[in-house]
Amino acid sequence: MRGQESSAPEGVGSVAVRACTTHQNSTTSMTAHQSMDGHDVNARPGDAANGRSAEPFADYTDPHNDLPEGHFYDPDAEFEPDPEYAATLAPDAARQRRERIGPTGRPLPYFPIPGPVSEHGPAKIIAMCNQKGGVGKTTSTINLGAALAEYGRRVLLVDFDPQGALSVGLGVNPMELDLTVYNLLLERGLAPDEVLLKTAVAGMDLLPSNIDLSAAEVQLVSEVARESTLQRALGPLMNDYDFIIIDCQPSLGLLTVNALTSAHKVIVPLECEFFALRGVALLTETIEKVKERLNNDLELDGILATMYDSRTVHSREVLARVVEAFDNNVYHTVIGRTVRFPETTVAGEPITTYASNSVGAAAYRQLAREVLARCHAE
Ligand SMILES: Nc1ncnc2c1ncn2[C@@H]1O[C@H](COP(=O)(O)OP(=O)(O)O)[C@@H](O)[C@H]1O
Ligand SMILES: [Mg+2]
Repeated sequence: MRGQESSAPEGVGSVAVRACTTHQNSTTSMTAHQSMDGHDVNARPGDAANGRSAEPFADYTDPHNDLPEGHFYDPDAEFEPDPEYAATLAPDAARQRRERIGPTGRPLPYFPIPGPVSEHGPAKIIAMCNQKGGVGKTTSTINLGAALAEYGRRVLLVDFDPQGALSVGLGVNPMELDLTVYNLLLERGLAPDEVLLKTAVAGMDLLPSNIDLSAAEVQLVSEVARESTLQRALGPLMNDYDFIIIDCQPSLGLLTVNALTSAHKVIVPLECEFFALRGVALLTETIEKVKERLNNDLELDGILATMYDSRTVHSREVLARVVEAFDNNVYHTVIGRTVRFPETTVAGEPITTYASNSVGAAAYRQLAREVLARCHAE
């Protein structure tokens, strides 16, 4: 098992340890591989899924790994990927100059750290879209948005999924909302400001939604120019933001068509697992149709590989297949699988603030730089 040699308490790639002055009495019999409640803290998030149970190591005792005075193992701490892999997600300039090969198997270009902007808008609208659920749309919307905001861009996130996961992920209780995107779509004369919420991230706002939005799909059918309802609703906001990111629902219904009609770009998150490519043809066909009939400006900005686990052959094979199929449309940035993301949902904040120094935060910052670099290249 990885990391057994690790005895440095705060070392990169080792188990995170927090200094603590309390609870020392209960740590005497714990090993370096056990948390306060006896779990194996060295178990990595993917272990269970790979069929390797952490249990056989539960009572393993390594005499060389006693905790230093004043430290205990943080049960919530995760085991970060090995530094070699971390470097492929957030490489330093020197490595990049040596033309490192990135996780997609292509040389990783340098994405410059974007300078500040003095003026904002007009907004580039990005639809985060995949009709498959659980591929990382909401996670990518929150964290790409937060990373762009860190770089000084004004960002609006639009929760366009009646599940309201984006709103929840930003600490909003959707059930308590009086006004949501739904009202903005269907009530004429309602100003967007009445629906807008500020988030804890400076420069990032939210148009929240809740289950009400599920009615919109049916109600919009009888509207004139029903496919461009969202576009009209976002119109007054265009000059206030640099990026508007729409978190689509997992379907290719009218709401998603509305998102695609208002968007300049589409980002398609793909989970690095066996059925990743299933349904992507239907999605690209839909994008093409919307481009042809409703929105000439629409472009696929990129395919984003998510939940990538560099330690499994399977993940690497899926990523290779995705690159084979979509070539340069695949972002160089790849998002690794880490338990930090589910944790951030519970915390109600982006990973860039929840675990600012984590590999996950670094990955979304790099994605923000790559997205900005693609924008500037146009
Ligand atoms: N890179 C990742 N590593 C581990 N878990 C992730 C990652 N990205 C997302 N998740 C988790 O996977 C689940 C589905 O992600 P989500 O962003 O909600 O997908 P979608 O919006 O496409 O349905 C969530 O519980 C989320 O926390
Ligand atoms: Mg979602």
